Amino acid sequence: MTMDKVALKLTLFGLLFTCVNLAAENKKQDIDIYSFHINSTVTSRYATTVITSRVANLLNQSQEVHFEVKIPKDAFISQFRMTIEGKIYDGVVKEKEEAQQQYNQAVSRGQSAGLVSAVGRTLEDFKTSVTVAALSKVTFELTYEELLKRRLGKYELLINAQPMQPVADFKIDVHIHENTGISFLEVKGGLNTKDLSNAVTTIRADKDSWVKFYPTRDQQKKCDDCSKNGLNGNLIIMYDVVRQKQSGDLTLSNGYFVHYFAPTDIQRIPKNVVFIIDKSGSMSGKKIEQTRMAMLKILSDLDEDDHFGLITFSGHIETWKPELLKATEGNVKEAKMFVKRINSGGSTDINAAVLKAVDMINNYPQEGSASILILLTDGDPTTGETDPAKILENVKKAISGKFPLYSLGFGFDVNFEFLKKLSLENNGVGRRIYEDSDADLQLQGFYKEVAIPLLTDVQLNYQGVANLTQSTFSQYYNGSEIVVAGQITDNSLESFTTEVIALSKSTKVVYNSSVLTGDLSSDRPEHENFIKRLWAFLTVKQLLEKMVLLKDLEKENAKKEALDLSLKYRFVTPITSMVVTKPQNEEMQVNHKPKEGEKEPNRHSSGSIKPSRRQKAAPKSKMLSGHAIRTSRLRAPNSPSYSLSKVMVGQRTSPQRPKLRSIESPTLKPLTTSPPSRSVRILKSSGSAHPLCYDVPLAQKVRLQQNILSEFSMNGELESVGGEGFSQIAIHYKANHHLLLSTTEMIYNDGQKTVKFSWEQDLTHHERENVTLILRSNEMDVTMGNIRLAILLHKKDGDIFLWPAIWQQPKDVSLMGILGEADISYEEIPGSQTPTLKLKDQEVKTSWVMVKDYRLASAPVVGCWLVPFQVVVQRELSDFTVTQL
Ligand SMILES: *[C@@H]1O[C@H](CO)[C@@H](O)[C@H](O)[C@H]1NC(C)=O
Ligand SMILES: *[C@@H]1O[C@H](CO)[C@@H](O)[C@H](O)[C@H]1NC(C)=O
Ligand SMILES: *[C@@H]1O[C@H](CO)[C@@H](O)[C@H](O)[C@H]1NC(C)=O
Ligand SMILES: *[C@@H]1O[C@H](CO)[C@@H](O)[C@H](O)[C@H]1NC(C)=O
Ligand SMILES: *[C@@H]1O[C@H](CO)[C@@H](O)[C@H](O)[C@H]1NC(C)=O
Ligand SMILES: *[C@@H]1O[C@H](CO)[C@@H](O)[C@H](O)[C@H]1NC(C)=O
Repeated sequence: MTMDKVALKLTLFGLLFTCVNLAAENKKQDIDIYSFHINSTVTSRYATTVITSRVANLLNQSQEVHFEVKIPKDAFISQFRMTIEGKIYDGVVKEKEEAQQQYNQAVSRGQSAGLVSAVGRTLEDFKTSVTVAALSKVTFELTYEELLKRRLGKYELLINAQPMQPVADFKIDVHIHENTGISFLEVKGGLNTKDLSNAVTTIRADKDSWVKFYPTRDQQKKCDDCSKNGLNGNLIIMYDVVRQKQSGDLTLSNGYFVHYFAPTDIQRIPKNVVFIIDKSGSMSGKKIEQTRMAMLKILSDLDEDDHFGLITFSGHIETWKPELLKATEGNVKEAKMFVKRINSGGSTDINAAVLKAVDMINNYPQEGSASILILLTDGDPTTGETDPAKILENVKKAISGKFPLYSLGFGFDVNFEFLKKLSLENNGVGRRIYEDSDADLQLQGFYKEVAIPLLTDVQLNYQGVANLTQSTFSQYYNGSEIVVAGQITDNSLESFTTEVIALSKSTKVVYNSSVLTGDLSSDRPEHENFIKRLWAFLTVKQLLEKMVLLKDLEKENAKKEALDLSLKYRFVTPITSMVVTKPQNEEMQVNHKPKEGEKEPNRHSSGSIKPSRRQKAAPKSKMLSGHAIRTSRLRAPNSPSYSLSKVMVGQRTSPQRPKLRSIESPTLKPLTTSPPSRSVRILKSSGSAHPLCYDVPLAQKVRLQQNILSEFSMNGELESVGGEGFSQIAIHYKANHHLLLSTTEMIYNDGQKTVKFSWEQDLTHHERENVTLILRSNEMDVTMGNIRLAILLHKKDGDIFLWPAIWQQPKDVSLMGILGEADISYEEIPGSQTPTLKLKDQEVKTSWVMVKDYRLASAPVVGCWLVPFQVVVQRELSDFTVTQL
């Protein structure tokens, strides 16, 4: 069995896909991914994402189970764990060479396995597999970390979901916390389109936002980006933060600090830009066409007071004009004619072209302007000076640190390492342009990032710090952000001061700020370590870049430092690898961070062994239910006999600054609007900027939600006096499914069998027909047909109560109940004395109140517009009272 593992592994991948395909058709799966979660927590731009996949082998014999996910290229994996039959197997991060050695030894002992990794434009693959015994389960858990970069005015968190089969318990949970507040948030990506967008819920508070994506299994087969194998696509969460201070946002914790600097109160600096465009033979065809298209657009975007030059090169250099010219309408028009005539052919003289461009800029120095060189090439230097080392030397000498050189490498034939070095040595960055239909947009996108210089020669200074990350920057562009992190060495200082010195269009500018250290350490305890990790992440990234430029001993030192940090923080970087040891005498596996442009490593024994199809499945095994579920008969609940109870859900905190631009609000005094007693305050996400909330006077038993088409209904019973939520909730689906939840237990009857769960028990999964129940600590996730919801168990000051959270339901009109419709939109009516909303064709007065959002386990306080119940639901309460749960 151990022999030919490699080949077996390779073929199994193919097999897996086949199996899943078959499974989708025959409803007979031998591998069941019964749970797939992605949980991303972003704190001050630092994102930690955990992907958890729980898989069951439904066969009556052991088989290999694969785990494959895509993670953002810029991220570092920091943990990988497999749990098999209660036993934990953790990946261990080691120096790359050491890991490789261990791996080689294993190979020579006849065991073998390697990681197949590939890199796409923004994502890279992580793959592994493990043999799972008959009717057993495995949990894979992968954690990765990244610092989100601000580009064009926003941060983007990219989450890829491709679980390889439709999954009953599929969830993406994102929580973003930004100390200064979140100014906008948008969810994009292929997973937020059409029917699937029903499954996306966004909850916004001042400093926090939550995005939840809970598609049902059915939806996972029917979206644009889906196939029979389930979801396959991205969720992209874009946001920006509120910038209260021009001097930046400073956070301190546990002896580390991070400073985000992105001032906006500055005028743009006119730029002198020279575009150096490769038109050698290899650019011919689509590439040169796209380059022309992009250049025409870029020229149109130049500002009137910019100066620009154009150089095209192959074996010889051609300039549009020998000098830089102002971007007047006439000049731009003329330059466009030149661009349209660019034709490809010939060799590549990068050296002469860049030196010519430097010369042009040096000859026309402009006071109060920012100079930028942008080189676009798709190949190696082939004529003139062709020695990369010489070119680097020449260019560095010519530019001598005065302005940045950005290199755009078009396609994969280019020596990207060389271009990167060329740029890094000259304060720029190297960027890849992928040969694709949108290459022109990529070029324009890059240009936009550097189109508006705001500051040059930026120097950030701090007192009493050490081990700073990069703190000088040649230019700062609108829409970007400068991030500096470091260690605080002088803990005796009462305040922490920052000083930023830079040149703006007309003058030297200084941004000073000073913050009391006591005020800053109050970050939430769960985020305590993130600044330290952020610092380590940034330091390793920058050391790895610096290594490109260093030689000999210096390079060794940088490498050692990066290695030590990578090992300490368990980052899988280009210089470390993760060794995954598997149960028994299965092979060990080494995971390297893949390099871009690298082909899949050649597997020595592939090809030589024929795919050996696995034996036919044993008799169909039972579903994965039952474990840890005791059964009993469905009991009638003990109903308290109060006829009315007082339920308070609203929070009596004073409202944070309401974010209404359109409504100036003299009435927004500190909150006086706690919900009237005997009512419950319902918070509702809306299609508009802020959530709505309304008070529902409650009878004892009410219909929370009913969806006739889906044959679904949910009723709730209030706690007795003094409580804040529900003591019982009952859910009915079709004629036969009944789930009754109380604060102690849950009883589910499917018409034949009854199962009982207790809140205390371990993670439990129960699936039958189109009903899935998953119980995890204090949360019961329920899927019934096309409806997904969770019932949360809240414990507060000795009070225990339930709260429903509907995460996905069809947007049809047949919805009834006090929870209201799926998605309600409103308009804010500007100019009125009292804040007023237009809702359901009605103008309603409102006020801004703070409410605890019990739909989330952490019950955060969020602001909402308080409106009358009748307006939202368009019915009277009596329509929703029920006599029986
Ligand atoms: C996501 O991860 C965070 C941090 O580990 C944790 O506090 C939170 O409960 C998790 N959320 C979910 C929905 O699992
Ligand atoms: C599993 O297979 C063995 C023989 O291979 C058989 O005796 C046993 O009944 C099977 N169990 C199930 C649950 O199918
Ligand atoms: C910077 O960009 C923002 C939008 O992202 C824009 O409102 C602002 O005017 C820009 N600043 C300058 C100087 O162009
Ligand atoms: C800076 O980092 C190095 C290791 O990277 C460490 O040895 C040193 O103690 C750090 N300096 C301070 C002041 O903490
Ligand atoms: C900024 O702070 C530095 C010391 O940190 C001080 O020398 C300088 O005068 C300050 N500048 C302004 C404009 O406050
Ligand atoms: C499950 O749901 C699908 C689609 O919603 C439906 O076609 C099927 O009949 C349902 N199965 C059962 C057993 O209710």
